[in-house]
Amino acid sequence: MGELKVNLNNILDFVSKEEVNTFKTKIEESQRKLESKSGKGNDFLGWLTLPGSITPTHLADIEQTARDLRGKSDIVVVIGIGGSYLGAKAVIEALGNSFAQLQNNGNPHIIFAGQNICEDYHAELIQLLNGKNYSIVVISKSGTTTEPAIAFRLLKQHLEGKVGKAEAAKRIVAITDQSKGALRKLADSEGYRTFVIPDDVGGRYSVLTPVGLLPIAIAGFDIRKLVEGAVAGEKNTSANIPFEQNPACIYAAARNALYGKGKNVEIMVNYTPKLHYLTEWWKQLYGESEGKENKGIFPAGVDFTSDLHSMGQYIQEGERLIFETVISIEKPAHQLTIPNDPANLDQLNFISGKRYSEVNRMAELGTIVAHNDGGVPCISISIPELSDYWIGYTLYFFERACAISGYVLNVNPFDQPGVEAYKKNMFALLGKPGFEEQSKTLRTRLGI
Ligand code: PA5
Repeated sequence: MGELKVNLNNILDFVSKEEVNTFKTKIEESQRKLESKSGKGNDFLGWLTLPGSITPTHLADIEQTARDLRGKSDIVVVIGIGGSYLGAKAVIEALGNSFAQLQNNGNPHIIFAGQNICEDYHAELIQLLNGKNYSIVVISKSGTTTEPAIAFRLLKQHLEGKVGKAEAAKRIVAITDQSKGALRKLADSEGYRTFVIPDDVGGRYSVLTPVGLLPIAIAGFDIRKLVEGAVAGEKNTSANIPFEQNPACIYAAARNALYGKGKNVEIMVNYTPKLHYLTEWWKQLYGESEGKENKGIFPAGVDFTSDLHSMGQYIQEGERLIFETVISIEKPAHQLTIPNDPANLDQLNFISGKRYSEVNRMAELGTIVAHNDGGVPCISISIPELSDYWIGYTLYFFERACAISGYVLNVNPFDQPGVEAYKKNMFALLGKPGFEEQSKTLRTRLGI
C-alpha cells in the first residue's frame, strides 16, 4: 500500500537531528492542545476529526447532487475564492488528465470564477457560457465575500436569462453557512439546494467538507477514496502516533528547526505540473495560518523542472534564506520512454530507452544535491501515487502539520485578521457608505 514518507537526510548539513528533536516537547504539547481543544483558535478545530466523522449518507448526498449537475451540464462553474476555491482546484488538477479541458470524456468541464475580479476573465467566461449548457456551484462560508458575490450576481443573471428563473434555481447549488450570511438568505429565498460549511471549519481547512467534495465529485473523482485516504492521514498523524513515527510531527519539527536557523522562506517544489495547485492550496494554508504577529515562514512554490530555468538561478545562488520541501510521486500513472534518434544531433542517445520518470527522478536528485551545495536544505516528502486516496491523505497531513507548526510558533493558526485591511481600503475607494473619511484620506495618499 505504501506510505507518505518525510525524509530529512538533505537538511542535515544545516541542522542536526538533535536540533530537530529539540522540538519534540513543543510538538507533543501542540498535539495535546489540538486534541484537547485547549489551544488558540480552538473554536475552529472541526477539521481535526472531520475525515473520520464523514458519514456514508453525507457522501451519498453529495454524490447524488454531483450526478444531477453532471446530467444537466457540459460545464459546471464553481464560484469561490481562497479556502472556498483552492482545495477543489488542487484536487481536480492533481487527479485529472493534464488536457482535461480539451477532452470530451463524459465529465463536465469545471471552470472556476470569482477567484479574481478581472474584467476580461469574467467577460470571456460569459462569452463562453453563451453557447454552453451549464450549472453553478457557489461557495462562500461568510456569504459576503466580494469576489464570489460579484461573480455570482453576474452568472445568476446570465443563467436565468438563458434557461429561465425556475430552471436556473435547479442548476444552482450553494455551499455556505447553516444560517448566516447573504448567500444563505438568497439560497433559501430562491430555493437552491444547499450544503453547509460547519461553523468550526475555517475556509483553508474546508477541502474535505462539501466545499471541496462537491466540485471534486462533479469532476468525476472518487470522494469515498479521497475521504478514506484522509481518514488514514488523520489516524497516522494523531497524538497517539509517537513523534518519531509521525510524519506531520517530523515535518513540523524540521521546518521549525530550519526557521530557527534563519531559513525564512519555504519553497514547495514539485516535479509534476499536476501539483501546481496543490502548492497554491498549501501556500494559502501555511501563509494564512502562520504569517502573523510579525512571524511565520514565507510559503513559496515552484514547478520543476520548468522553474529550474527561471527561479533555479535564485535558489542556487541568491539570498541564503531558503529551504525547499520537495514533494515527489513514487509511481507515475503512465509509462513513456525517450526515443532513440539515429542522428543524435542533441547527443541525448545516452538516455534513449529510459523512462521519462527516471530522467525526472535524476533531475530531482541532482537538483537536491546542487541546492544543498548552494546552501539550500531540502526536506523530501514522497507519496506512492497521485490517486484519490493519497491526495486525501496528503491534504490531511498538511493540515495537521500546519496546525502543529502554528502552535509551535505560538500563533493562532485558525484566524486571518490581516486579510481585512485591503478589503476596507477597497470598499472606501469604491465609495461604500460609511467609509467617506477613509476614502478621502486614501485618495489623498494615492494622489487620485
Ligand atoms: O481561509 C479563509 O478563511 C479564506 O481564504 C476564505 O476561505 C476566503 O476569504 C473566502 O471566504 P468565504 O468562503 O467566506 O467567501
